[in-house]
Parts: sequence; structure tokens; C-alpha cells
Amino acid sequence: MICADEPDKMIACRKDSPMVLGVGEGENFIASDVSALLAYTRSCMYIEEGELCILTQNGITIKNHALQQVEKEIQTITWDAEAAEKGGFEHFMLKEIFEQPEAFKRTLSGRIHGNQVHFDEFSLTAEEINQWQKIYIVACGTAYHAGLVGKQVLEKLVRIPVEVEIASEFRYRDPMMDEHTLVIVISQSGETADTVAALREAKLHRCKVLAITNVVGSAIAREADYVIYIWAGPEISVASTKAYTTMLIAEYLLGVYLAQQKEMANFDERAAILKGLQQLPEVSAKLLTEPYLAEVQRAAERYGMAENIFFIGRGMDWAIALEGSLKLKEISYIHAEAYAAGELKHGTLALVTEKTPVIAICVQKSTYDKTASNVKEVKARDAKVLAIINEGDTQTAKFVDQTLEIPTINNFIVPVLAVIPLQLISYYIAKIRGCEIDQPRNLAKSVTVE
Ligand code: M6R
Repeated sequence: MICADEPDKMIACRKDSPMVLGVGEGENFIASDVSALLAYTRSCMYIEEGELCILTQNGITIKNHALQQVEKEIQTITWDAEAAEKGGFEHFMLKEIFEQPEAFKRTLSGRIHGNQVHFDEFSLTAEEINQWQKIYIVACGTAYHAGLVGKQVLEKLVRIPVEVEIASEFRYRDPMMDEHTLVIVISQSGETADTVAALREAKLHRCKVLAITNVVGSAIAREADYVIYIWAGPEISVASTKAYTTMLIAEYLLGVYLAQQKEMANFDERAAILKGLQQLPEVSAKLLTEPYLAEVQRAAERYGMAENIFFIGRGMDWAIALEGSLKLKEISYIHAEAYAAGELKHGTLALVTEKTPVIAICVQKSTYDKTASNVKEVKARDAKVLAIINEGDTQTAKFVDQTLEIPTINNFIVPVLAVIPLQLISYYIAKIRGCEIDQPRNLAKSVTVE
């Protein structure tokens, strides 16, 4: 609130939506997200639900709901101011796609020692981990899609059953959870209302909550028992890109960490995953070179005017397909759906015609043969097919219209790379169609309403 009679005063109160104050010299700020403050100050205060803030040019007073004064710690924002600028890129989305190799380095930094994973933020003993009989991963949108990969990572490495839930559904269905359940909440912003509500529901049931988030001091980071920061840097574009891939890396690190702490025998497998993760910054850069971008643009020109596009894949390739279709629909407004490739013949195949391009993710080696036969089924219905394949795959190009190769990496972590051409193709299609790429219609970066 501002008042003409007191021009040097602003009053703000936090109710449901996030609020952060910027502490400057001779100036103070109110914002909903720290990225808005970066150009002005690195000092901030996170405001809790129900708190009342009175700001003048030279002072900030904070009171609780009973109007008692509250002392707040001033926190330092470590993000670079340049990170909130486009830095020569036409859109934040493209800039953030290009920032992925550096973001991967930050997510991994200080967390791998030899063949061991270490988190500065917390540590867990085998006894604590063995308490958990079940894991829920709860998130929304792109973070939910990261959870679908996380399920496969954790089940394979840690051998605890994992269920992945959409946060807006989770607490309305009386989920079975107690002190023997770990709830992992994933959220770039750390402020998504449904995810925060799911976290609180889990705490009410005495579950331990582990958060994977990008924003230090966010509601989710503050309220969880354990936090893994993805250190992606500010993500401004509504379409999430670098946050998604760094969430995946955090999940791989977590899987290896839990298996290591439980002293599980899969030592070589863990070592191979860690080696692969360390190669990601360098290998991912190959997907951002001019010749590769030219190939993606060629695909965008070919498929960009379609009215419907299907994405198919199996296992982790299906999880990637879901993320690819969300990216495409949110920024290009093309109707896009992702299907488990084996499900097509149970109904959706009826929709496949020469007017329905299909993007097939064919990088999981364990399911390759089965996916390939599904791709042949859509080709037989005259669909144009773009396939995402592994480098060295000489088979797929023989029966599809175009391929985009993923450089060689440990096959278990290939989703981190395989999604990058999907991010790029969505971007270039949206550009061809003249869409508002960074701020698509009807969408907000932080969804702070349930
Ligand atoms: O901040 P969060 O990760 O909790 O956000 C969740 C979703 O709103 C978000 O991922 C959304 O789906 C993106 N716009 C997708 O690109």
C-alpha cells in the first residue's frame, strides 16, 4: 500500500504468494522473486506468511500478525546480475538453454569426491535411509516430469518403491504416508502453491521431506528437512529448461548418494554414473554448436506448421517425451501429446496420419528394438518421423525422415542430453510461428495459486 499523505512509505503484507524485500542504500524494494532485485541489490529478506513490512527510503520494519516486531536476517543473493539479462540472446529461453553446460558444472561442483557423493546441505545414515519403505516424488509441470526420471533412477539405484504424484492431486486423495515415507518435492521456484501444500501435508503425516529446488530461501527450501540446490542460476523464461536438466542431475546424485550410504553393492554402476555426470558439461556443449543448431532448425521448419505433434518413447525416453511435448505446447501453442510408445496401438494410433508428425525418442538401449517397431507402425500410417538417436546408431535413419544424434554418454544418464534437442526444437518452432517465447499467453513463471 502507498498513501499520498506519507509518500516515503510502502506497506506490504505476505498472504499466500511469495514476497522478498531488497535492502539497498537509500532505497528498499518489494518483489515476489529475487531475480527482480538483481539489478539493484544483493541483500534481501525473505518474508513469511502473514508478516507485515513497512519500508521507507532508509529503513525496513517487519511485524508478525500480532504486530510484534520481528528481527530478520539479511541474506546475500549469490546470483550474478548479468544472469537476469539476455546477454546478446534474442530470448531468455535460448540463453538458458545455452547456459546448461555451466549450470551442470555448478550442480555437480563439490559434490563428487572420487566415487563418492557428498552434499554440504545434509547427511543421512544407513539407519535413517532404511526407515523409508516408500518414496513419493511430488511436483508440478516440468518438475513433475523430472520426477518421472527420478523414479527410475531411485528405484534402480536404491531399490525403494517410488510413486510420482502431481502436487495438485496429491493431498486431495489421502495418500498413504507416515514416518516410514520420504517425500521428495521438486520445484524450480520453491514457491509453487500446490507443491508447498503437498510438502505441508507430508509433514503433517510425519514424513521426512527432501526438497530439490533452485531458489535459496524459498518456502520449499525453508520448510523441508533436507534440501538439494540445483544451482541452475536464475531462470527467467516461463519455459523451464536448465532447471529441468539440473533437477535430473540432482536426482542422479541423490540416487548414488542414497545407495552409497546404504552400502549397496552396485559400486561399479555408481562409479560409471558419476563418471558420466562429470562428462555432461563438455558433452552437452556439442548440442549447442552451429551445425547441430542448423539441423534442429531444419526440423523446426519441417514440422513447425503442424497442428498436432506426437512424442513417443519408452521408459526414461517416455519421460523425456512428456517434457518435450509440454515445452512445445506451452511456447508454440501446437497441440502436442506424449505417449508411451507401446500404448499407441491401444487407441492413439487412430489419430496418426501424414499430417501428424511424430518425434520419437529412441536413446534408451534397453527398449530400442521395441520403440523402433512402434516407430515403424507410425511410419506405416504415413507420419513424418523425427527420431532422437544415439551417436553411432546406423539403423534408425533407414526408416525415419530425420534424425538428431545425442553424443555418447553413459546410457542411464542420457535423458539429461536427450531433452536438449527437444528444448531447441520447441524454441525454433515457436520462433517460426512468431510466438511470445519468454512469456507465453496465460502462463506465469511461479504458480503461487492452487
Ligand atoms: O517452480 P516449479 O518448478 O515448481 O514450477 C512448476 C511448473 O509450474 C513449471 O515447471 C512449468 O510447468 C513450466 N512453465 C514448464 O516449462
